[in-house]
Amino acid sequence: MSQDGVLTTCECGKPLKAVFDWGATTPDRNNIAGENNSLWRYRAVLPPIENDHIVSLHEGWTPMINGVIHSGVSVLFKDESVNPTGSFKDRGMTMAVSHAKRSGITELCLPSAGNAGVSAAIYCDTAGITCHVFLPETIPAPFVEVTEKSGADLRLGGRTIADAAAKMRESMGEGWFDLSTLKEPFRVEGKKTLGYEIAEQLDWSLPDAIVYPTGGGTGLVGMWKAFNEMSQLGWIDGPAAFPRMVVAQSDGCAPIVKAFADGSPQHEPWVNSHTDALGLNVPAPLGGAWILKTVRESNGMAVMVDENKVMDATAEVNDLSGIDGSCEAGVSWLTFKTLVEAGWIKKGERVVIPITGGAERYVLHESEVM
Ligand SMILES: Cc1ncc(COP(=O)(O)O)c(C=O)c1O
Repeated sequence: MSQDGVLTTCECGKPLKAVFDWGATTPDRNNIAGENNSLWRYRAVLPPIENDHIVSLHEGWTPMINGVIHSGVSVLFKDESVNPTGSFKDRGMTMAVSHAKRSGITELCLPSAGNAGVSAAIYCDTAGITCHVFLPETIPAPFVEVTEKSGADLRLGGRTIADAAAKMRESMGEGWFDLSTLKEPFRVEGKKTLGYEIAEQLDWSLPDAIVYPTGGGTGLVGMWKAFNEMSQLGWIDGPAAFPRMVVAQSDGCAPIVKAFADGSPQHEPWVNSHTDALGLNVPAPLGGAWILKTVRESNGMAVMVDENKVMDATAEVNDLSGIDGSCEAGVSWLTFKTLVEAGWIKKGERVVIPITGGAERYVLHESEVM
């Protein structure tokens, strides 16, 4: 299958993954457009998009902050809150919306836990594409304001992204393209640049582990894809040098952690999910099997942390990193500390924690506002 035309999922309903036939023009590290301070510096390893179709707001190439030494472990924070719409969702959106524009798509839709909706709305506005965003009714007001301000058609339904997705399926109009997580292959292509950046910023070495706050899992599978591509291309050492990938979830919604602990290849939907880390309130991720396969292949781990401790942990990690991260950062930080305490992450190791989004649109609990 080529990348031309509108691509969605496999006929079996599972996600499609872009595979490159590098042919005679195998890209090397000299092909990185070093003068470009966005993720488009990696254009040589991204699906081809003509200049006229690229929809970019200068996303990616975000700072890697030499954070702290914690119990002898060196922690690096990757600050994704500086992306144009405030989260790492912009990586996927620049790629997916560019591809949509290239494919002549004029109207698209997605359900979101908040950040992806904001990002899609703003990228579609830039591209001149009509965007329908479906959010849970529980979404904090700032997400609603910014999504609507970007001209998107916003509809609210249910308590989680799964409910919003159900509402979307009922409401979909003729010709709307479904940009849901992993329902098309290009958001992962954008997200994989996180892996390319981590390698380049660490001078083409990789950390021992990456702790990733996991909802739909595109960033986790995307980074793993990047490491495999880079090793095939000879940019980095082979799989023995790849990081252990860690899924971080809250015990309010931990379908992947449960399946990992059960040794199961697929998760069961999480019932009555709740977490302040809104991006992690994904009870039934479409890419669950892909996430689980990745974690196992990497000799990684999946951890659920106490939801009641997330707010304090967020304040702690923000203090340490100097980044105003959203609660997903607290989930990652608690996961990291749990694994250090258990001896799974060891003294002398180097760990990257992507701080996946900024806190500005998350609303604090009343007790904390008072
Ligand atoms: C700030 C933040 N972190 C993490 C996630 C989870 O990302 P993924 O769906 O790639 O697992 C989200 C998703 O909405 C998010 O907004």
